[in-house]
Amino acid sequence: MPPNCEDRLIAPSLIAADLSRIAEEIARAERAGADWIHLDVMDGHFVDNMTFGPPLIRCLRQSTTMFLDVHLMISRPDHYLPRFVEAGADLITVHLEASHDVAQTLGRIRQAGLRAGLALNPATPLEAALPFLDQIDLLLCMTVVPGFGGQAFMADVLAKIQAAAAIRSARSLSYHIEVDGGIDASTAARCVAAGANVLVAGSATYGAPDMAQAIAEIRNA
Ligand code: DX5
Ligand code: ZN
Repeated sequence: MPPNCEDRLIAPSLIAADLSRIAEEIARAERAGADWIHLDVMDGHFVDNMTFGPPLIRCLRQSTTMFLDVHLMISRPDHYLPRFVEAGADLITVHLEASHDVAQTLGRIRQAGLRAGLALNPATPLEAALPFLDQIDLLLCMTVVPGFGGQAFMADVLAKIQAAAAIRSARSLSYHIEVDGGIDASTAARCVAAGANVLVAGSATYGAPDMAQAIAEIRNA
């Protein structure tokens, strides 16, 4: 199924949830109208924080039918890839800056029948991703330096989003453009105006007093 890059998709980031009751927190996001669940995998090496890995995702796969958007902030995505595939991810995003053969890793994700995403840190120019754009279902433009939730949105990234959308139409491609970091209704509006359609939000969804209202506000931004 080709991605429809026109659909606006809201992906609450699980790291902002109450991690002592993860399955309930995913169900809460689903009831509140979330489209995807965003799972931030951190290895303590590629980023200065640690979260969880394939065993937890395998358990979540048993407890939800929601689309699992797995964001690998790990140094060797190529090495661990089979375990995330086996765990039941629907989409796996790898960082361009990690230590791997990017084209080969993206090819392996698709060969496994999953959707493939490529992530760029705020400082990484879009030019670095140009060789891979025809191999991806999603381009993740990080709007914070990855590692922690609750950081401030970096508006400089808006120009990269605009360029990514322009190249997509120039090349007749259809990858989603996802933004992640500091996204709330107001920054989401700016990202959507620039061309993003998948909006990851942690603090602004799980941290909101009314998650359904927060998701609706981001969707309508
Ligand atoms: C940052 C993570 C994000 C982050 C989003 O390294 O990839 O998913 O948790 O959290 P907020 O929305 O709080 O910035
Ligand atoms: Zn993320």
